[in-house]
Amino acid sequence: MTEGVDNPFFARVWTAMSAREPESLRRLRRENLAGLTGRVLEVGAGTGTNFALYPATVTEVVAVEPERRLAALAARAAADAAVPVTLTADTVERFDDGEPFDAVVCSLVLCSVEDPDAVAAQLYSALRPGGELRYLEHVAGTGARARLQRVADATVWPRLAGNCHTHRHTEQTLRAAGFRVQGRREWTMPRWVPLPVAEFAIGRAVKPAGS
Ligand SMILES: C[S@@+](CC[C@H](N)C(=O)[O-])C[C@H]1O[C@@H](n2cnc3c(N)ncnc32)[C@H](O)[C@@H]1O
Repeated sequence: MTEGVDNPFFARVWTAMSAREPESLRRLRRENLAGLTGRVLEVGAGTGTNFALYPATVTEVVAVEPERRLAALAARAAADAAVPVTLTADTVERFDDGEPFDAVVCSLVLCSVEDPDAVAAQLYSALRPGGELRYLEHVAGTGARARLQRVADATVWPRLAGNCHTHRHTEQTLRAAGFRVQGRREWTMPRWVPLPVAEFAIGRAVKPAGS
């Protein structure tokens, strides 16, 4: 089990990056949250960038953010959000409030958890039957890109980027946990330098009703 997240370097980098997000990423965040209703669990909220973008049909967001510098910024974003946000300092692995959620939101976070299979199974359990996990994640590439990602993951990238792993087959992981992936889209961001993160996917992973 993860014992909390303490990452001052990454917290500084992510704070700077999330303050300068391009409008294209904002649009994807809105798309990832569109149409959500009821009680939502947000995993690894970072600085709380999603909080202002939830639709008014969401009645409560319970957000986990274990990195204390990021959590402090998320707390400010929570105070300004139009929907009620409860923030906890747990890792997702430690979080369990015993009440089922209507939806789970993951953005740019399933790359960073230690054991994605275990977390996917946990998030499946946290949802009510018929509930859905919305994801906006970077995912594994193929060919030479896959080789670059494997090298990055085995060397400096996770240390520099808050345990981010670039070569994760996140949608396969969600399917293996029992989710049905729907409405997915993927794209590659054009880059002039060979950074290992360029392949992205957005979609919804539904927990079948009656399960
Ligand atoms: C790249 S940031 C993305 C933040 C946010 N989801 C967003 O879309 O802006 C990854 C976040 O996941 C958090 N995180 C890493 N491991 C975690 C874990 N085991 N449980 C919960 N959050 C975690 C980090 O502290 C960080 O805030």
